[in-house]
Amino acid sequence: MKMSTVITDDEYVVITKDFLLKDDQYLNFDIYGSSSSFSQEKPVLLASKDSEIVNLKLAIANLQFGQLYIKKQDEGPFNLFLEKTLQSVLDNTETPVEKKAIVLYSCAKNAVTDVFNNPRSGKNVARVQNIAEGLIKLIMDNASSASMLAKLCTHDFYTFTHSVNVCVFGINFWQMLGFGNADQELQDFAIGCLLHDIGKSQISKNILKKPGPLNKEETKVVRQHPELGYILMKEYLAKSSLDIILYHHERFDGSGYPDGRNMQNIPTEAKIASIADVYDALTTNRPYAGARKPFDALKVMLEQMDGHFDQEQLVAFIRILGGETVS
Ligand SMILES: [Fe+2]
Repeated sequence: MKMSTVITDDEYVVITKDFLLKDDQYLNFDIYGSSSSFSQEKPVLLASKDSEIVNLKLAIANLQFGQLYIKKQDEGPFNLFLEKTLQSVLDNTETPVEKKAIVLYSCAKNAVTDVFNNPRSGKNVARVQNIAEGLIKLIMDNASSASMLAKLCTHDFYTFTHSVNVCVFGINFWQMLGFGNADQELQDFAIGCLLHDIGKSQISKNILKKPGPLNKEETKVVRQHPELGYILMKEYLAKSSLDIILYHHERFDGSGYPDGRNMQNIPTEAKIASIADVYDALTTNRPYAGARKPFDALKVMLEQMDGHFDQEQLVAFIRILGGETVS
């Protein structure tokens, strides 16, 4: 289920009721409703900006509105509203995990997309930090939430999808490898995963979306993204988050980039993130290759990428995906 979908009339965007979870908050946008499908009935104003959520809920309950909308121009405020309420949504013990995952996924999509569009904004980076906190909380609190989040991710290649997937796999992996739940360390790891490819925001979309193999020059440009990401984020993030951004393409045998570091010199966080990164890339539709099935992707990583990964970690990752906890 999507949080919002553009409908036939460009003016309105459909929203679900999942965000109406905290009563003592005020809206920062107008909400419209219709009792039937949009084609038959134009939405009417249900609650205006500055209304309290509790009153909106009453109006919906009394009037049996089937569908809620916001105006297209209010998408930005609506997304920020969702993000502000995120922690309390996740704290609410009465809310089903699936609803929490939907709200969180929607927030993650918006925040990650915005930070890629404007990576020099400290506010956008702070929003991603909030998302990382939310993902950790949801995954820690509910064993089933990681697979719910993964189900929400499409296998089409979008920056936000890939970033969130790598973060979800990564948090799971981190936990299962026994690195523990020390708040700050895990938080920095999750932020690094969410922003591991932020340097690609500085690379031409024509190259990133090229439907075919890259030539020498293009490959050289794409390979600059770890360093570009590091430069963009160095004033905002902790060292371990920056290590993921800078070293997630280094390989166990020293054949990676940017430094050609070998196993001992690649930070652990970057090694974990690189396994999640490659696995997600292989199981996703990309401009130049179709999505592989999980089993096939792992086979490729084991058999065709010899020397790329820490073999022990890779085997642990396979066991985790197979549902076996590594002790
Ligand atoms: Fe990358």
